[in-house]
Amino acid sequence: MHLFDYTRETTSLDGEWEAIPDQYKVFEEHPIANSLALPQAPENDLLNFDVDDGYSIQVPSCLGEVMPEFDHYEGWMWYTRRFTWSGHRDNDRTFLKFNSVNYEATVWLNGECLGDHEGGYTPFVFEVTDYLDEGENLLVARADNERREDGIPNEQTDWFNFGGIQRSVELISVPETFIRNYKIETTVSNDRVSVQVSTWIDGPQTEAQISIRFPELDREIELSPVGDERYRAELSLPRDAVTLWCPTSPRLYKIELECGLDVIEDRIGLRDIAIRDGEIHLNGESLWLRGVSLHEEAAGKGRSLDDTDIDTRFQWLNELDCNFARLAHYPHSREMGRKADEEGILLWEEVPAYWDVNFGDNDVQQLYRQQLRELIQRDWNRASVALWSIANETDHEDDTRNRVLPEMVEFVRELDDSRLVTAACFVDESDDGLIIQDPLADSLDVIGINEYYGWYHGNTDDMAVFQGHPDGAPVIISEVGAGAKWGHYGPEDQRWTEEFQAAVYQGQIDAITDNAQISGMSPWILFDFRSPSRQNPYQRGYNRKGLLDQRGRKKQAFYLLQKFYREKSGESL
Ligand code: GCU
Repeated sequence: MHLFDYTRETTSLDGEWEAIPDQYKVFEEHPIANSLALPQAPENDLLNFDVDDGYSIQVPSCLGEVMPEFDHYEGWMWYTRRFTWSGHRDNDRTFLKFNSVNYEATVWLNGECLGDHEGGYTPFVFEVTDYLDEGENLLVARADNERREDGIPNEQTDWFNFGGIQRSVELISVPETFIRNYKIETTVSNDRVSVQVSTWIDGPQTEAQISIRFPELDREIELSPVGDERYRAELSLPRDAVTLWCPTSPRLYKIELECGLDVIEDRIGLRDIAIRDGEIHLNGESLWLRGVSLHEEAAGKGRSLDDTDIDTRFQWLNELDCNFARLAHYPHSREMGRKADEEGILLWEEVPAYWDVNFGDNDVQQLYRQQLRELIQRDWNRASVALWSIANETDHEDDTRNRVLPEMVEFVRELDDSRLVTAACFVDESDDGLIIQDPLADSLDVIGINEYYGWYHGNTDDMAVFQGHPDGAPVIISEVGAGAKWGHYGPEDQRWTEEFQAAVYQGQIDAITDNAQISGMSPWILFDFRSPSRQNPYQRGYNRKGLLDQRGRKKQAFYLLQKFYREKSGESL
């Protein structure tokens, strides 16, 4: 179970670390991680590394962005740092948390191997209560960003494979028995708001009293055990006593959860997202999603965004008059969900089951479930998160894929059935027009379709004959767009010009506007991003489908979409 720590007191291990490249994987036999056992001088002078003197590197960061000589590096990088620990209070326990390491991490503390984690975009923790020394400690993390056939994602993606310890590292101390995680689910009816609360307790005193307080609603309830260290309770409120969370009024309520010596606080929104009559409904009202897709990337920082970068992205979303964003194609940092809660932006969150993942392999399926669980248990209290996406552009003629992905849909619903499950799929051409033949669509709540009419194929008005899904499930255009180099102008029919891109947007908007089955869109993409497979003279290592370039300069299509969304926002939330 995910370890909730957002508002807990933590000890940051960010800052300066040592980085030791090991492309030939030779330092394995020299127990670099157990340097305490290393021969001392002068014998160790022959060693080919020094745990205290590698390349100085800031953590968190993306390797190539802070050490240009390692820009396209793929392989092992040993990260080491020493830190002082002042010892535990009473019976406290301590956990070491990495918020993300791309792609696989193996971690040692004072020579003890704590374990490893595969997956570049989700948090993982190790309990270190028994391994921490009072005084000096040596932490070693080997980050391996080598792409792999059996990975999620596998070797081929249209995004840059930044390496390293990309998000914060921290120590979290908690009482012996503590609240490991909690979950809030809200159901809204005409006159009532029902709030279901679950907590998961970790530790010996499982008989401890557990309660939740909503100070602003002047409510407090006690939770009762339901097995598996889980406790539950339900709060029912008159609808008019609550300000429901929605894009136009993203009200957040303070909560306090208490279990023995442990108290956690958080701010959450109360809202209900559901499908009714083939439409997406928020708090019982139909909603059209005015969105855009984005990667987690900032010029010169890779995926290691700071608060200013995140603020800028929401500023652009607000300028576009968005009420929705697709965080592609992997879990972005947890700060995005928190900011979206405050800004009133609904989110599509996704795991990187992208293109040709080896779905038939049992280990891959296990990894797939692990990544889904890690994302969902991290962000399931974010009111902004409306959709869990299980995949992007996977082959619907592949029988194994068609067997495994519906199982993942069910797995997601077991974890969280208070949100919508989706995936980005393809459309098919038929005599009756554009249709959805993907069998996965039958399992999804909302069907995402990636279509590039007017760019990769056909014409924008081809979308005018989009028939949607036979049983009328709501459809989101999860990707649509065209490439343009910022500042490159010319006739509308000349590719790579801003005019061409804008014309594709206008054509698409005209073609889909009146299609009742389309409940929203998240064009590809908010800003240009790095991709090794984009090397023509307009691209130079960037996918140029951004509405802004990588330096935040707006292209004509940005204003065109803004105009459309402003008109649209007059119609719904
Ligand atoms: C695909 C894919 C994206 C990619 C985009 C493109 O649809 O999902 O990751 O970047 O197309 O071709 O630009």
